[in-house]
Amino acid sequence: MMADAAKTKRLVVVSNRVGPLKDTGKAGGLAVALVDMLRERGGVWFGWSGQVTDAGTFSELHRERSKTVDLATIDIDPADNAEFYAGYANRTLWPVLHYRLDIAEFSPAFEAGYRRVNERFAARLLPLLRAEDQIWVHDYHFFHLGAELRRMGVENRIGFFLHIPFPPPDMLSALPRHRDLVRSLLAYDVIGLQTDRDRRHFIDYLKEEANGVDLGGHRVRAFDREVTVAAFPIGIDTEGFHGFAEGPEAKRERTRLERHLNGRRQIVGVDRIDYSKGIPHRFRAVERFFEEYPEHRGKVSLLQVAPPSRSEVDAYMDIRRELEHLAGHVNGRFADVDWTPIRFITRGFPRRALAGVYRASRLALVTPLRDGMNLVAKEYVAAQDHEDPGVLLLSRFAGAAETMGEALIVNPYAADEVALAIKSAFDMPLDERRARHDALYARLVEGDARNWANAFLRLLDG
Ligand code: G6P
Repeated sequence: MMADAAKTKRLVVVSNRVGPLKDTGKAGGLAVALVDMLRERGGVWFGWSGQVTDAGTFSELHRERSKTVDLATIDIDPADNAEFYAGYANRTLWPVLHYRLDIAEFSPAFEAGYRRVNERFAARLLPLLRAEDQIWVHDYHFFHLGAELRRMGVENRIGFFLHIPFPPPDMLSALPRHRDLVRSLLAYDVIGLQTDRDRRHFIDYLKEEANGVDLGGHRVRAFDREVTVAAFPIGIDTEGFHGFAEGPEAKRERTRLERHLNGRRQIVGVDRIDYSKGIPHRFRAVERFFEEYPEHRGKVSLLQVAPPSRSEVDAYMDIRRELEHLAGHVNGRFADVDWTPIRFITRGFPRRALAGVYRASRLALVTPLRDGMNLVAKEYVAAQDHEDPGVLLLSRFAGAAETMGEALIVNPYAADEVALAIKSAFDMPLDERRARHDALYARLVEGDARNWANAFLRLLDG
């Protein structure tokens, strides 16, 4: 261990959600991609405990150690929860960065809460840092954290990765004090974005709003700083997830499903309930599919797994209600005594079982209206049987579309186009399914989570 630590620098990861270090998590998310890297290098994962207490960010530091990784977390208080988490992060930044100015809320109290929590997290992280550590901050909760650390005298290399989209400058500039937010980002040494499109938007913003200059070779100058900006499409543990799909939990889940399906085919969707995921559009497209192609009625059904999320935010309660209504509507219209077109399940599945659900599904619908990457698309491909793989139908507005061109790429707003793509997926001959799958799978192995993290950390090494 000591020899390893001397060779590679210790890694300090900061993200709002941390862990779990053991493989008990639910579908998707940040944890999956990071845990391997931390295990290998050793280090600290710092973030929110998930607890809202009166002590808040002044709470004791909760620590949990698993082999080489230290999990260190603090609480937030009720005001932080309302203003930082449910406020600026999820009522302001999340919608703006997902191109939804129409539902973004702009409130000085949210903004102040966001700054306060960024400052407090920096102050609590500071004593955990060593001079040689590489610090890697994740996602839209912590735009200011690097700048706060710098103010406190931290000279380590600090990287930032944005897991969600970076919108065109015209859209971001609707956010009050957007320049302050982006100026803070420039305190990081490396800024990673999911796709070339996001990177382009970021550079365009710097040029248009901050006299930025693209110096080439990933280097950018703006706000009196010169930093690295690059796209790193995040991946999954491709072979590990493929292994899950062959494991006992997955088999058990498949057997259960196959007994229920009784020869019928299944379409699967797996998403946190979030308006960015386009689930209502998907339900309407499935309705259109049964309308236009009645020969599939009674033979195909959609299983939509949809764990609730951020339920204290109104827009999330609204979308959940809308989905319950829509599923009821489609089922009422087409169901038969022995067939339900849409099974809508509002809870998560353990990842190993989920791999079996993917394997048992001939088609996956991943149709977000806007998404940073979308790891469900990647997990679905990884879970398939190479000899008889299913088909991925993927929104052009998911970051994943940039590197998964062999999927059936669709416009999620166009119900007729999606309905036709569903039909063509069921008509697709085995050799075409295999050719598409092989190409997708090979690229997923190449761009897996480990290579993603290594590529980022190589640039952070400088
Ligand atoms: C997205 C974000 C993550 C976030 C996750 C779950 O994937 O990029 O940062 O943790 O959603 O959302 P939640 O609000 O429950 O943390």
